[in-house]
Amino acid sequence: MAEALPPSAVRAEPSAEELLALIFRYIARIPAERDLDRLLVLFADLGRELVTASSCTLWLIDRERGQLWSKVSHQLGRVTIPLTSGIAGEVARSGKAILLNDPYGDPRFDPEIDRRYQFRTENLLALPIMSARGDVMGVFQAVNKLTPEGAFNPRDLERFQLAATYTAMELEAAILHDEMENSEREIILTLAETGELRSKETGQHVNRVAEYSGILGGKCGLPADEVERLKRAAPLHDIGKIAIPDAILLKPGPLTGNEMETIRTHADLGFEILRHSDRRILKAAAIIASQHHEKWDGTGYPKRLAGEQIHLYGRIVAVADVFDALGSDRCYKKAWPHEKILDYLREQSGKHFDPALVKIFLDNLDLFLAVRDRHRD
Ligand code: C2E
Ligand code: SIN
Ligand code: SIN
Ligand code: FE
Ligand code: FE
Repeated sequence: MAEALPPSAVRAEPSAEELLALIFRYIARIPAERDLDRLLVLFADLGRELVTASSCTLWLIDRERGQLWSKVSHQLGRVTIPLTSGIAGEVARSGKAILLNDPYGDPRFDPEIDRRYQFRTENLLALPIMSARGDVMGVFQAVNKLTPEGAFNPRDLERFQLAATYTAMELEAAILHDEMENSEREIILTLAETGELRSKETGQHVNRVAEYSGILGGKCGLPADEVERLKRAAPLHDIGKIAIPDAILLKPGPLTGNEMETIRTHADLGFEILRHSDRRILKAAAIIASQHHEKWDGTGYPKRLAGEQIHLYGRIVAVADVFDALGSDRCYKKAWPHEKILDYLREQSGKHFDPALVKIFLDNLDLFLAVRDRHRD
């Protein structure tokens, strides 16, 4: 049913970069896989790797029979358990996640399955699989953390949620195909936030840049579906920073010429990471990553493109990104006062920025400020 077990030896937590590479590897496989059963195996594999667990089980609810059954499992064959028993049953009934590092000390745990499979559950993580309407469709469960600490932590819950979200979405997509797009947005945001975490930014930065870009795109007359794609892709503009050494990225003061040169490679690096995908959102993200530091007057990087040689997405994200960067504290500078930011946008109209976009920005300032207030750090 599932892929062969990996070596279940003790191993370290993945680094941020390994995590990214892992998520990318799985995202890349999703579009090619239109078979629901194989997709669910893929998500179980993803879940297991995200939390460094020895195995993962997807339980589905059979309400008529009052049972849970193991749809995909690295550990069990096809098993049914009553909806009224065990941790999985509890999660299915309550719709709430459970993290247990001492299952045998918890009266809700049912050791029956361990007995049947001559297995020892040392610790477990169980999440409800929810439909968009909020109905519980199943339970996603990981057992036995493989790191030296040998215990799940709250961060594992968040990571595992990524795989659980995908599973939930895909289950529904079997009924409603466009649920797939929601899960894609979700994973891209998570990815972008993982990248931002390294530069010690909050997740709100990527949300704001996305919202600002969406407003600008809409006011430029892009059709709604394209605005949506731009919004979903914009958070990945700085994903190439994942490959910039901390010593440079987090340097408190100004950069030397060499360091600046290194940081500037993040545009090409982002393009390299994203360009292999056939997903339209990731194709848009590749353009944005490579062009968000180009300038209207041709003095930007990496290609010194000018004017409309720069893709509209690149010109839009340039405005959104700089507006947000100037208004935020960075490891190397304090946030600028509001008036100074507006002066800068005006002054750089036709230099750094597409003048038409600066005009749209200033004419609709209240919309942008509302976004900033809604997504404070
Ligand atoms: P970032 O911090 O996200 O900044 C994005 C862009 O916003 C910058 O692109 C620049 O166009 C604009 N920006 C941000 N802060 C300022 C500012 O104080 N003055 C002006 N005039 N513009 C500002 P840029 O310059 O290509 O930098 C790209 C990335 O390189 C930055 O992303 C940041 O991660 C890094 N970086 C740039 N300068 C420094 C620095 O002096 N020290 C450190 N540690 N990193 C820097
Ligand atoms: C339980 O949910 O309590 C038992 C299921 C399992 O350990 O796999
Ligand atoms: C952000 O941190 O994403 C907002 C500005 C920037 O691109 O650095
Ligand atoms: Fe940026
Ligand atoms: Fe950038």
